[in-house]
Amino acid sequence: MLTVRAPATSANLGSGFDVFGVALGAPADVIRVERAPETSISITGAGSNYIPTDPEKNTVGAVAEALDAPATIRIDKGVRPSSGLGSSAASAAGAAVALNALYDRGLSREELVPVAAEGEALVSGEAHPDNVAPSLLGGFTIATDDGVTQVDASLPVVACLPETSVSTRDARDVVPKTAALEDVVDTVGHAATLTVGMTRDDPELVGKGLNDAIVTPERSALIDGYDAVREAALEAGATGVTVSGAGPGVLAVCYAADQRAIAGAMMDAFDAEGIESRAYQTTIG
Ligand code: HSE
Repeated sequence: MLTVRAPATSANLGSGFDVFGVALGAPADVIRVERAPETSISITGAGSNYIPTDPEKNTVGAVAEALDAPATIRIDKGVRPSSGLGSSAASAAGAAVALNALYDRGLSREELVPVAAEGEALVSGEAHPDNVAPSLLGGFTIATDDGVTQVDASLPVVACLPETSVSTRDARDVVPKTAALEDVVDTVGHAATLTVGMTRDDPELVGKGLNDAIVTPERSALIDGYDAVREAALEAGATGVTVSGAGPGVLAVCYAADQRAIAGAMMDAFDAEGIESRAYQTTIG
């Protein structure tokens, strides 16, 4: 039996739609694997009732197939599905690491990125490495057609998850197909600022770099209470706030000293809209 912990992730970071991602210290999935003649999957934990255990319909089953590594796989979900924290990606990344080791396949973490991304495609409809890459490599990742670049960033964040759900497919439907040149120019500037901020572990630069005028305004409209929660986090000291992944999770970047107040303010703001939420005070890393 082999056990792997796979971290939650936050993709996009506003200005890096389908490109940027970060690994979070919490929550995480725990994946246990044992060699078996055929793959079987059992799931416990957050949102486990909503995840198919049929290996043909589960991200993890697709990873086992891709690695030709049949196993009894037990997943303890810490990352709630459809919350914006890369739930299916965490399971796919964890399974890829665990099965690669169980069967001595000898693939590097970088080589496991496309394997885990294919698994994730089963759920989201398209293969986006922006969640599996940080779950596998840690820190901040830039995933493009040319491959993945990783930076060992470490910054305090608050990830606040309302009890509501937004499906990735729905959230992709609202993404504009075209953008005004001035918005593209603006977004490139923010993405570059964010990247430099990650190399310096600088909450001010990363917070500024989360701004995006193209995708986030459309996505945030799907999240009840988003504007109030964003405002509350900024008032409590967050250096920047954006939608986490496809939502409805909301990510705030901050200094460690403000983390607790920001978490409380975000939860209170959701509560004022009649929405229960949970806030993780954690770190990119
Ligand atoms: N980049 C993806 C999106 C992440 O925001 O749609 C979720 O799979």
